[in-house]
Amino acid sequence: KSVHKGKFKHYTAKEIYEQPVSIKNTILNRFIKNETVYFSELDVKAEKIFSQTEHIQIIACGTSYHAGLVSKYWFESLAMIACDVEVASEFCYKKILVRKNSLLLIISQSGETADNLNALKISKNLGYLGSLTICNSKSSSLVYESDFSLFTCAGIEIGVASTKAFTTQLTVLLMLVAKFIHLKSKNFKLEKKIINLLNILPNRIEEILKHKKSVYSLAKKIFDKKNIIFLGKGEQYPIAMEGALKIKEISYIHAEGYPIGELKHGPLALIDSNVPIIIIAPNNNLLEKIKLNIEEIHSRGGLIYILSDPFAKFNKNRNIIRLPYIEHLISPIFYAIPLQLLAYYTALIKGENIDQPRNLAKSVTVE
Ligand code: G6P
Repeated sequence: KSVHKGKFKHYTAKEIYEQPVSIKNTILNRFIKNETVYFSELDVKAEKIFSQTEHIQIIACGTSYHAGLVSKYWFESLAMIACDVEVASEFCYKKILVRKNSLLLIISQSGETADNLNALKISKNLGYLGSLTICNSKSSSLVYESDFSLFTCAGIEIGVASTKAFTTQLTVLLMLVAKFIHLKSKNFKLEKKIINLLNILPNRIEEILKHKKSVYSLAKKIFDKKNIIFLGKGEQYPIAMEGALKIKEISYIHAEGYPIGELKHGPLALIDSNVPIIIIAPNNNLLEKIKLNIEEIHSRGGLIYILSDPFAKFNKNRNIIRLPYIEHLISPIFYAIPLQLLAYYTALIKGENIDQPRNLAKSVTVE
């Protein structure tokens, strides 16, 4: 099936802007009466395994790994299920200690990444309850090899740097969290809350996509820099890592994603007025801590840009990019968008080959 760029210059831009629809398609027909999650791909056997699950071992690579890292926060804080996340190429070459009643969960856009396939192969017969793949391709090797699969409905993703696959992976992961809540902790109120938030998510993404101008202005300020640091805390830490990965992949600027509280243990040494520090700081229960860290950076002459919402208050004279309000539970998915746009615009200003960055492949089928 051929895919056209339509009115867009690049597939990457088209795919960024497709996200409200991709998410809509991913949640379509998956909620029963907006009260419970229904996955037609799963049978009774899968539900039985989920009911027994006390630990989830996530394996993934690249952007999909970052989706896994976000979901660890969700599985643990919402569904009360312990979760570990590892990149496949490390998982395969170390001693694998299988936790009690552990489910293996592989996240992959393509379903063809060799490291993931290798991890799945190695894990067979180690005692996992079963293997579940979250994938964007129904006919892929991973789907074929694993016990169960859940599909993201992002549509074909052509840009090498993953965008809509990432946010739809997060969408499926949050639905899976709701499923576990239903089967295990039985907090039906929380389950319903998650479903309601997922239903409004496409509109929220539409809203944030309208803020492209402020993101473009930020791109104009950073495109000629050599290093950029992205900072987050809690669920926004993996989003900071994803923001850094996007910048590396398509804008060819060295970037690091770091937990903001960890800055003082090393990276603070890098700070000067030439290193943009991009901080994700929505108004949540972590904001006060984040503000202390921001002041630390400021007092060392850091070049700070804060992505936040209409309500968070900061000291005067900080560069704040005010984005729309977003409910806390779905905020990691939301903040991924301005960072994708930032990488896109930065690469655009630099004139890079956005859809096909040098040295990278869409799907890496060698180890
Ligand atoms: C490649 C791509 C990345 C992707 C990673 C994992 O490195 O360039 O964008 O995140 O593979 O791919 P997967 O298909 O397994 O999600």
